[in-house]
Amino acid sequence: MYQKVKGTYDVLPNESPYWQFLEQKIREICAIYNFSEVRTPILEHYEVIHRVNEDSDMVKKQTYDFKDLSDRLLTLRPEQTAGIIRAYVENKLYANQDISKFYYIGPNFRYERPQKGRFRQFSQFGVEALNSDSYLLDAEIVALAYNFIKSLGINEIKVEINSIGDSQNRIEFRKTLVEYFTSYTELLCDDCKNRLLTNPLRILDCKVCSKEPFFKNAPSPLNYLNNESKERFDKVLEELENANIDYVVNPNLVRGLDYYDHTVFEIVSYSEELSHLALGGGGRYSSLVKELGGPDITGIGFAFGMERLLLALNNSNLINIVPPLLDVYLLVTTNYPYKISLLQDLRKNNITVETNYTVGSFKNMFIKALNKNPKYILIAGEDEFKNNTITVKNLSTRTEEIVKKTNIIKYLKKELKTKKG
Ligand code: HAM
Repeated sequence: MYQKVKGTYDVLPNESPYWQFLEQKIREICAIYNFSEVRTPILEHYEVIHRVNEDSDMVKKQTYDFKDLSDRLLTLRPEQTAGIIRAYVENKLYANQDISKFYYIGPNFRYERPQKGRFRQFSQFGVEALNSDSYLLDAEIVALAYNFIKSLGINEIKVEINSIGDSQNRIEFRKTLVEYFTSYTELLCDDCKNRLLTNPLRILDCKVCSKEPFFKNAPSPLNYLNNESKERFDKVLEELENANIDYVVNPNLVRGLDYYDHTVFEIVSYSEELSHLALGGGGRYSSLVKELGGPDITGIGFAFGMERLLLALNNSNLINIVPPLLDVYLLVTTNYPYKISLLQDLRKNNITVETNYTVGSFKNMFIKALNKNPKYILIAGEDEFKNNTITVKNLSTRTEEIVKKTNIIKYLKKELKTKKG
C-alpha cells in the first residue's frame, strides 16, 4: 500500500471544515485591515530563495532544490516572503509609490524532522506591508498578528519582541558575539560551532546552548543598538503598550531568516500542551526588495503556521464545528426516470440533497439514508411513480405526508424555511 510522503498529511473530509473556518477568519480580518490576497507559485528559481537567505540554516539545509527537465535549478518555496517580493518587483507594484498590503495562504516545504506542529509540507497565513519605514507600521503589523490570534479565541499567548537594529548595528554586534562565543567554542553544540562561522546571531536562540551556564552573560543585540534604532524600538513598544498588546521583550530573539533588521517578533503559545511553540513570527526587512532587483523599499510582515493555529484551537476546544444537516435524501426504490432532473430542481432551489444510485432492499437503503443525517427523506417508489407523488418523511416530527410531485419544491421550501425560522 502506498503511504504519504514523510512529514506530509491528508486533510480528510472530517477535518476540512476546520481549515475552512480558519481561512474564513483570515479573510475576514484581512478585509478589515484592507490587505489584498496574492498567490505566488510554489516553485521559484533557486536564486530567489537562496540569495536572500545565504546564511540561514533552514534555507541552507532544508530546502527541496532540484533541476527540472530543462536543467533549470528550482526550489519549492520554504516560506513566501521571498516569492512575494519577487512578484512585487517583477510586476513593478511599487510604481504607485503607495503602501502595498498583501496577505497569503498556502503551502511551503522544509526538509524538517517531523514532530508535533512540524511538517515537511505545511501551510502559512502571512502578510507583507511594503513601502513605509514608519515605526507605526511595525506596531500595526504586530497588532494585526495579536488581534488575529485573539479573534480566534486563543489565549495563553505572548508577543515576544526584539530589535536587532540596522545593518551597522548588526555588523558590530556580530563581531562582539563572535568574540564572546569563541572563548566557549569547545562548549558549543555542533550546530553552533558552525553558526559561529556562518550565522553567529542564531546561537542566541539555540535551544541546546541557551541552557548552558556560559550562555548567561552572552551579549544581547539590544545593548548594541545605536540611538536611532533604540528610539525607533521604544516608539514601537510605546504604541503596543497604548494598544493593550500583551508583549514581552525577548533580548535573545533573532529569528531564523537572514533578511531581518529592526523589529523582530514571534507569537508564542504559553499553554501547557504547546509549551513555547511559536505559532507565528515575522519582522522588518530593509534590503530584501533591493536584493531582488527592486528599488530601496522596506517592508514588514509575519507568517503563522496554519497547522499550529489548528493545534492551538483544538487543544483549547475552541472549534466545535457541527456539519450542517443535509436537507433532503431522495430515496428511489425503483428505476425512476427523470431522477437527475428532480435532483437538479431541488439544488436549483438551494436544497441540499443526496440520493441512492442503486436499488436494493428497502431496509438497507433506508438505513443508508438515515446515516446521511437528512432533515427529510423523500421516497419515490412504484406507487408514487404511478400517482405522480412523493412521500415525505419528516425525521424530526417522525410524520409522513404524500405530496404531489409538482408541488414538492414549494412544499419543501416552506418546510425548510419554517424550520430555520
Ligand atoms: P518562520 O518563522 O520561518 O517565518 O515561519 C513562520 C511560522 O510558520 C512559524 O512560526 C511556524 O508557525 C510555521 N512553520 C515554520 N516551519 C514549519 C514547519 N516545518 N511545520 C509547521 N509549521 C511551520 C517565515 O516563514 C517568514 N517568511 C515570516 C515573515 C513574513 N517574515 C516577514 N514576513
